[in-house]
Amino acid sequence: MQGETLIFGYGSLLWRPAFSHGSSAPGYVKGWARRFWQGSTDHRGTPAAPGRVVTLVPAPRERVWGRVYAVCSAEAPAVLAQLDAREQDGYARLEVPVVRRGAVAALALTYVAAPTNPRWLGDAPLEQLAAQIAAARGPSGTNREYVERLALALRELGEVDPHVERLLSALAATEQAPR
Ligand code: SIN
Repeated sequence: MQGETLIFGYGSLLWRPAFSHGSSAPGYVKGWARRFWQGSTDHRGTPAAPGRVVTLVPAPRERVWGRVYAVCSAEAPAVLAQLDAREQDGYARLEVPVVRRGAVAALALTYVAAPTNPRWLGDAPLEQLAAQIAAARGPSGTNREYVERLALALRELGEVDPHVERLLSALAATEQAPR
């Protein structure tokens, strides 16, 4: 039987995988939290006005839900080369244990942006995150749309992420604020 490579997506890979894959299933990684702490200058922002996109940060008691894609081993090198190019703005591949619903843990590759990468922005007060995101847009679209699509994809999985939901509410408030 031919082997497969598993890829775990927790950000844009959730709603727009755009790579060739077989089955996919909801799954989570343990010991991580999803945070809008990574700058984006090539997808949802520009070098002059970076947007904010998600990365995984260590959080021993938390788990992050996403989607686990199975890629047949023969196609894996091409898929990974494509994803390396897409995630080149600070992300690196990491192998992590993932748990799919109703299945035992397996190893998957995921893209994580570490604090040492040049686009790292780190934490900021919620209103500041929202203001930066509300103002940013890049070649892939507005930064606001990234947050909205992520929230929707997670709701469709039945796994709401409080950090994403709080940001969504703060973003809605920026629309209502007088200009
Ligand atoms: C991912 O989706 O898993 C990585 C981060 C992103 O591209 O938004």
